[in-house]
Amino acid sequence: MSQRTALVTGPTAGIGRAFADQLAARGHDLVLVARDAARLEEVAAELRAAHGVAVEVLPADLGDREQLATVEARVADRERPVDLVVNNAGFGLKKPFLANDVEQEQAMLDVLVTAVMRISHAAGGAMAERGHGGVINVSSVAGYLPRGSYGAAKAYVTRLSQWADATYRGQGVRFMALCPGFVRTEFHERMEVKQASAPKLLWLEADDLVRDALHDFDKGRSISVPSVRYKAITTVARYTPTGLQARFQSLGRK
Ligand SMILES: NC(=O)c1ccc[n+]([C@@H]2O[C@H](COP(=O)([O-])OP(=O)(O)OC[C@H]3O[C@@H](n4cnc5c(N)ncnc54)[C@H](OP(=O)(O)O)[C@@H]3O)[C@@H](O)[C@H]2O)c1
Repeated sequence: MSQRTALVTGPTAGIGRAFADQLAARGHDLVLVARDAARLEEVAAELRAAHGVAVEVLPADLGDREQLATVEARVADRERPVDLVVNNAGFGLKKPFLANDVEQEQAMLDVLVTAVMRISHAAGGAMAERGHGGVINVSSVAGYLPRGSYGAAKAYVTRLSQWADATYRGQGVRFMALCPGFVRTEFHERMEVKQASAPKLLWLEADDLVRDALHDFDKGRSISVPSVRYKAITTVARYTPTGLQARFQSLGRK
C-alpha cells in the first residue's frame, strides 16, 4: 500500500508524463495538475490501471493566480500531505524577447517562475513542519546559457532550488533542480520549432532523463544534469565568456 503522495505539474505529456509513470511505478499516489481536464483524467485512469495507485486530478492553469492558489492550497494541506512535488509544467516562446507582446512574456514568466516559486513556498512550508519532503523543479541547461527570457527564468529556478536545498536540508526538506537539454516531447511542437533544427546527438528521451533525475534525487544531489553530453556543456558554459556563448544562442530555434 502506497503511503507517499507526489504532485506533478504538466503530467499529460513529455517529461511530466515520464515523472508520473515512474513515480507511480515506485508506489507513489499522485496528484496531477495541468489545464486539459479530459487528458488528465485519461492519464489518471492509465496510471491507476497500470500501477494500482490512487490518482487525484487537479485541473488548473498555473498562469492564473486564482487557479494556482488551488494548487498551493493542495500542497499545503496538512490533512492530506504531499511528500514530493515535481514543478514541471512549462512552455517556451518561439520569438525573442522584444518580438513578443509583453503579455506573452509575462504569461511565460508566470508559469516558469511565479508558479514554481509559489508552489515551492507552499509545499516547502508544510514539509518543514513535518520534517520531511522533497521538491524537484524542472529547470533547463538554458539557465546556464544566454537563451533569452526563457533561459533567465530557468536560471532563477536553478538558483532558487540550489539555495533552498542547502538551506532547508537540515529541516528534512530537499530541493533539486533538474536541468535537461533538448528532450523529445511536445514542447518544441507547441512552440512551432522543428526538432530537426538541433543536432540529433543532442536529443534526450524523457524516460531516460527522468530515470537519471530520480537517481540523482535519491543520491541527494541539488542539481541534476542528465547525460554526459549536457554535463560537459554545462561545465564548459561555466568557464566560457558570455560573448562566445551568445554565438550558440540560436541553436534549435528555426
Ligand atoms: N523538451 C525540452 O527540450 C526541455 C528542455 C529543457 C527543459 N524543459 C522543461 O521541461 C518542462 C516540461 O516540458 P516538456 O518538454 O515535457 O513539455 P510538453 O511536452 O509540452 O508538456 C508540457 C506539460 O505542461 C502542461 N502545461 C503547460 N502550460 C501549463 C499551464 N499554464 N498550466 C498548467 N499546466 C501547463 C501541459 O499540459 P496542458 O497543456 O494540458 O496544461 C503538459 O502537461 C518545462 O518546464 C520545460 O521548460 C524542456
